[in-house]
Order: sequence, then C-alpha cells, then structure tokens
Amino acid sequence: MTTPAAAIEVSGLTKEFGGLRAVDRVSLSVAPGERRVLIGPNGAGKTTLFHCITGTLRPSAGRVSLFGREVTRLPEHRRTALGMGRTFQISNVFADLSLFENLALAILGTDRRKWMMHRPVAAFDDVCRRAREGLELVGLAHRERTVVRLLSYGERRQLELALALSSGPRVLFLDEPCAGLSPSERQRISRMIGALPRAITVLMIEHDMDVALGLADRVTVLHRGRVILEGTPGEVQANPEVREVYFGHV
Ligand SMILES: Nc1ncnc2c1ncn2[C@@H]1O[C@H](COP(=O)(O)OP(=O)(O)OP(=O)(O)O)[C@@H](O)[C@H]1O
Ligand SMILES: [Mg+2]
Repeated sequence: MTTPAAAIEVSGLTKEFGGLRAVDRVSLSVAPGERRVLIGPNGAGKTTLFHCITGTLRPSAGRVSLFGREVTRLPEHRRTALGMGRTFQISNVFADLSLFENLALAILGTDRRKWMMHRPVAAFDDVCRRAREGLELVGLAHRERTVVRLLSYGERRQLELALALSSGPRVLFLDEPCAGLSPSERQRISRMIGALPRAITVLMIEHDMDVALGLADRVTVLHRGRVILEGTPGEVQANPEVREVYFGHV
C-alpha cells in the first residue's frame, strides 16, 4: 500500500535575495488535515518560505508539492486553482461595499462565471449561499449588510479569513492572523481557526506562543532560514533552545 501524499511537501527549498539566504534548504512535510504552525524570530524566513510555497516568490532551489503534485514552477493563480489559499490583504476589498457583497464577489472571482459579472451577484443562488456560510464560519453573519470601512480591526481580520476561505482551499496559509489584535480578538480568531474542518490543512505563522501551541498539531521552528526543530507543541516547549528564545529562560 502506498502512503497517502502529504498535503504539502517541501524539499531543499532555498531562496536567496542577493547574497542573503532567507530560506536555506528547508524540507518539511505536512499531512492532510494537519495544523502546522511555523515559529521563529523576526527575519527567520517564515514569510519568505510561505511565499515560495504559494508561488508569490520563485525559489532559488528546491521543490514544492501539493498532494503529490509538483507545483514548484506553477504560477500563483494555478496553485490557487489547485487548492492553495491564503489571506488577502484587506486593502484588496471594497471598503464601501458590504461584507456580503465583498465575499460574494470574491467567490465569484474564483469561479468560471466571473466573466459574467455584469449579471447581478444575487442572480447566483449558490454564490449567495456560500457567502453567507463563509460569514457564518468566521462569526460575521450578523454583520453581512455592514460596509467594510465600518468594521473594527478585529472584524477585518475575521473578514480576511472568510476571504481566504472563499476559494474553497484544501490548504490554507495564514501569516500571523492574530497580529495586532487584542487578547480577546486573538482568542476569537484562534478559536475560529481551530474550528475549521479538518478537510482543510492549515499552515500558520504565529508569534503568540499561546496561540501557536494551542492550535498546532506540530510546530516547525525556523531560525536564520533553517529548520532547527520540528515536533509536537510539548516537544517544542521543552526544547532548551526554543525556551531561551521565546520564554527567556531554560
Ligand atoms: N523581497 C526581499 N528582498 C530582499 N530581502 C528580503 C526580501 N524579503 C525578505 N527579505 C529578507 O529575508 C529575511 C527573511 O525575511 P522574512 O520576512 O521571510 O522573515 P520572517 O520570519 O517572516 O520575519 P517576521 O517575523 O519579522 O515577519 C530577512 O532578512 C528579510 O530582510
Ligand atoms: Mg513574516
């Protein structure tokens, strides 16, 4: 029997910017349904690694596979079509449209029917249903008629999550989804991420150790572009090097 393909398999991934090796021969394998959290100090190469996996950046060397299919050379939109999703910059949304309208447009944009956008969005029942479900999933159903510019910072991050989910990703990449949030907002977002169906594999960069260790099945620690440790939250927490970097004591 063959083992099922990893959701994400990265091998020997390297990214150089001029003389700087931001990502240095990183290999990792994320199982379908897993919640993998990437931690590491500022400048460790976490975001660059994400960008190389999702296709925003072209790696200098190495390979990336998605459910057994090599995608290293595919452009970002093809990877999205194959099931990679990531958070949109909130600046991509229409500030004067409602949450519902924004989400419906995003869903329509991932659909073949985007070329029929002169038709009113409401004409597409399933798009409306998926937009409502998406808002429900991130706890924003009660705000569906609110225009985006009236949202609080925390609610914007919830909307970002809904937008990331709108393409129906099989693997979701989240780069510090809780950054800049208050403790209660942070809790809310991390609860939502934790409640996502296991049909979605999640890779997440997170600085807040409580959030990271609470959500992760496994944690990968990056330092100076390299993986210095991978393990369960318990193993990572017990590691002296990590304790020194993150908890200030051994
Ligand atoms: N486009 C770029 N051009 C040149 N250098 C870059 C570029 N992007 C990132 N770097 C450098 O690569 C290294 C890794 O940066 P990266 O943003 O991936 O780190 P990070 O782990 O995400 O950090 P943070 O926790 O601060 O978000 C840093 O030294 C950064 O200055
Ligand atoms: Mg970063």
